[in-house]
Amino acid sequence: MRVSNEYTLRIVPTAADLARSAADVVSETIRDKPDAVLALPTGSTPLGMFTELARRARAGTTDFSRTRFFCLDEYLGVSKEDPNSLTGWLFREFFTPAGVSAAHVHTVPSEPADAEAEAQAYEDTIIRAGGLDLAVLGIGANGHIAFNEPGSARDSRTRVLDLTPESRDQAAAYWQGTFPAPSRAMTIGVGTLLDAAKIVLMASGEAKAGILHAALRGPISPAVPASLLRPNPEKLIVIADAAAARDL
Ligand code: PGA
Repeated sequence: MRVSNEYTLRIVPTAADLARSAADVVSETIRDKPDAVLALPTGSTPLGMFTELARRARAGTTDFSRTRFFCLDEYLGVSKEDPNSLTGWLFREFFTPAGVSAAHVHTVPSEPADAEAEAQAYEDTIIRAGGLDLAVLGIGANGHIAFNEPGSARDSRTRVLDLTPESRDQAAAYWQGTFPAPSRAMTIGVGTLLDAAKIVLMASGEAKAGILHAALRGPISPAVPASLLRPNPEKLIVIADAAAARDL
């Protein structure tokens, strides 16, 4: 583990180690504060962490019965019941196998009548819950965190934005050829994430080596939204497997 004046960096050998290491941060957060407020990501990177956390829940070693959850982002115009929705993904991959009550899960509005008002309401709900104790994030190939695409401001809040072509391609892959893949999303903002008491940024695989290097060693800039998490030595824990950490 390396501690710098910008973040704590844990480089672990494999994706399986990354899953366990990130799961440990979640388990420790809940052990210290059973009713902690967590924001959780979707994507291929956190899959192993979710499998491990669901296993711990079933084994009774991590107790999510009082934990409160916020989803990070959601495609716009896609019903939450749609299996391709990010909300549906989180229920399928984590909340249901871990036995989390749907009553403890806050989902990002996906079909808002008034996007601005509902985004503000989501932000207000996080504040009323006492703020995020932990935000768990992946990093997109373009440097996005949640769906804060390049150009997102450091003080951005929950809002609707257009997805970049890279993110649309990524979505198209998840949507398994069901077109049209969504082009807009609602996401928790960078500022919302920076208000969390603790932030975990996960990166796995060689394909993320370049963007992780840009995020951690390049300029702090909206061009690479993950870089906006720096400098944050008290809060930010970066966990990368050896392949993603190749250039660090
Ligand atoms: P991935 O997505 O884990 O599927 O690479 C990461 C992200 O876009 O945040």
